[in-house]
Amino acid sequence: LPRWYDAVRQAGPVVRSRLGLWASASYPVVSEVVRDNRFGVVPLPEDPWTRLRPREALSTDSSIHPINDSFLSKDPPDHTRLRRLAAPWFTPRALRERVGRVEQVVERDLDRLDTSRPIDLITEFAVRVPIQVICDLLGIAEPQHERFARWGQVLGRTLDGVRTVRELRWLQQTVAEMGTFFDELLAHKRQHPGDDVMSDLLAARVDGAPVGPADLVATTQLLLVAGFETTVNLIGNGVLTLLSHPREKQRFLANPDLADNVVEEVLRYESPVQFTMRVAKEDVTLAGTLLRRHTPVLLLLSGANRDPAVFADRNRFDIGRENARDHLSFSGGIHYCLGAGLARIEGAVALRALFQRFPALELAGAPRPRSSRLIHGVGSLPVRCIAGR
Ligand code: HEM
Repeated sequence: LPRWYDAVRQAGPVVRSRLGLWASASYPVVSEVVRDNRFGVVPLPEDPWTRLRPREALSTDSSIHPINDSFLSKDPPDHTRLRRLAAPWFTPRALRERVGRVEQVVERDLDRLDTSRPIDLITEFAVRVPIQVICDLLGIAEPQHERFARWGQVLGRTLDGVRTVRELRWLQQTVAEMGTFFDELLAHKRQHPGDDVMSDLLAARVDGAPVGPADLVATTQLLLVAGFETTVNLIGNGVLTLLSHPREKQRFLANPDLADNVVEEVLRYESPVQFTMRVAKEDVTLAGTLLRRHTPVLLLLSGANRDPAVFADRNRFDIGRENARDHLSFSGGIHYCLGAGLARIEGAVALRALFQRFPALELAGAPRPRSSRLIHGVGSLPVRCIAGR
């Protein structure tokens, strides 16, 4: 992929594919477009990727995915109204209060790891941390976590389009199951509110009116989808990248306080979310190119993260990199990842605790890459958890 992104960037700041899709892997252009209100996220009538690889798509109708009902897929004023309702849970102060809980979750998961045989770090650790953190936030009890994780995986895997009949059935079945689950859960929370996002949303008033059930469910589903698979891959990519860069791993072992910067550099180097899209809401001239109203643009976040104009020695994984935090892996502008602070905490706590407990952690087989184009990471990561150095 980095090579393909390089080819796009070298062809120009904004380029048009043979099948007519505009794309950019240039840092200045990507960061400008996500901040420019002449571009919106209005759901597209079709999955834009089909214009790049037409034979890969089964459904060109991107509106079948529930993420399209959430504020991630809305422009102001709806976006502003709904994002504001969830935002109090992600303020620096709210996050500081959550750190202890994340540490607890991580330590408990590490305690449960089998050290006597090789394990899959993705299912045994990387998946467990974020699902517990999100369920905690949403007020979903432990017996439901596994089901919730399964739904999150289906929604995450179909984010970039539905390619087979099996995937389509999977998605439809998941949406139906979640619908029933949410109806029951909302009824329960109305009677027994807790200290969680869902109870807060139920109690919220916007211009004197309660939040409608559709917005409530869409916001909760968004937090699950946006906060789950992304974070699984931050942790998975972090472990794999450190294991394949032994010098950087040693540097981290010698100085665990580098954890925050390790997370930034992993996000830059192996971005869990590869791209986002925007649509011109009016005619816009971008880097000297006229884009007509309604033109979609593919913004390659991970391509921007390797732009040599911003990141010196860009293909080097360097946990001491000073401007690592300038990456665009959380996008930017009004849709800047609401959970960025939480993801950073989860990533730093998980990587630091894992490598402190198992400094000699090693690969025990070949990792299996994921098939998604949007979400980047490994589907399985066989490792041996070894404590000695
Ligand atoms: C939006 C990445 C973790 C909640 C986004 C966007 C990106 C992103 C790229 C913006 C997409 C766009 O501009 O079109 C990531 C990555 C994560 C992560 C790489 C982990 C490493 C989380 C977590 C949560 C979360 C843990 C919450 C629990 C959200 C929400 C939005 C969002 C609610 C929508 C923001 C809006 O539209 O205003 N995320 N995310 N994310 N993310 Fe994250």
